Amino acid sequence: MTATQSESAHAKINLYLHVTGRRADGYHLLDSVAVFAGAADVLEVEVAQARGAALDLRIDGMFGAGLRGDDATNLVIRAADALRARAGAGADALPSLAAVLHKDLPVASGIGGGSADAAAALRSVMKSWDMTVPRAELVEIATSLGADVPVCLDQVPTRMSGIGEILRPAPVLPQCGMMLVNCGMSVSTPAVFRARQGGFRPAPDLPARWETLSQMVETLSELSNDLEDAACAVCPTIREVLSVMRAAPGCRFARMSGSGATCFALFDSPQAAELAQDAVARPGWWVWAGDLYRDGRAA
Ligand code: C5P
Repeated sequence: MTATQSESAHAKINLYLHVTGRRADGYHLLDSVAVFAGAADVLEVEVAQARGAALDLRIDGMFGAGLRGDDATNLVIRAADALRARAGAGADALPSLAAVLHKDLPVASGIGGGSADAAAALRSVMKSWDMTVPRAELVEIATSLGADVPVCLDQVPTRMSGIGEILRPAPVLPQCGMMLVNCGMSVSTPAVFRARQGGFRPAPDLPARWETLSQMVETLSELSNDLEDAACAVCPTIREVLSVMRAAPGCRFARMSGSGATCFALFDSPQAAELAQDAVARPGWWVWAGDLYRDGRAA
């Protein structure tokens, strides 16, 4: 074994999410600002002695129990497969890889856990195989794995559009704290998109920066997550989570992320978010509080 590549795969939070249209293939066009929380899965990848470029995956962690490392649909394996396919005839010369995924983010929960894992796999497998992929091609490979994978490549605040593959810098964010709560129920993204009612909404004008949390909250209050009602129809507990979060001491704003069920709340500081944790704790609920992840790689 040689050096281990360790990559953290941070939770992606949609501060708002407008459905702006629909493509001919059924995928929805979106406009959203995605930010990243300190909460993360961790993927470790080691180069093994054998050749042949297989990726052997083991999964542990708080939410690892229901997942199988030999499931070829796992996005970590699919990411490695996509990079191997790109190597073409050279794939036989690539070393095999052994990977461990520490799965500490809830699965199918609107915070892009699987997408963040896929992006972490692309980053670490490229390093392990000493592979350089031009940015546009990498975004194309990421998009083929899932609409949320491109934004997870750099893990910086990003304005997303298209189905998630068009990326621009987000407004500069103020200091704040964040809380995430998941009620323990997985929600299927296609089911939520199918349940969505209503038309399309335009992409809003956003400022270049939010100087204060109050300014950011003021903007966000005028926007929405257009999937929230549909997700609440599929999983009614989301409404209870939101009302519990909004009642927590110091909560400035709460909304569902992505297609749910995880909801986020904003606080004045990470400490304020941590102090409110006990007030939202319920049996079976996953609660995380802390800071945004602010060390992502600028694109
Ligand atoms: O791309 P991903 O595999 O994450 O998407 C899962 C499903 O969610 C898609 O097959 C599609 O039904 C729906 N989806 C969508 N529009 C998006 C993203 C996802 O309709 N922008």
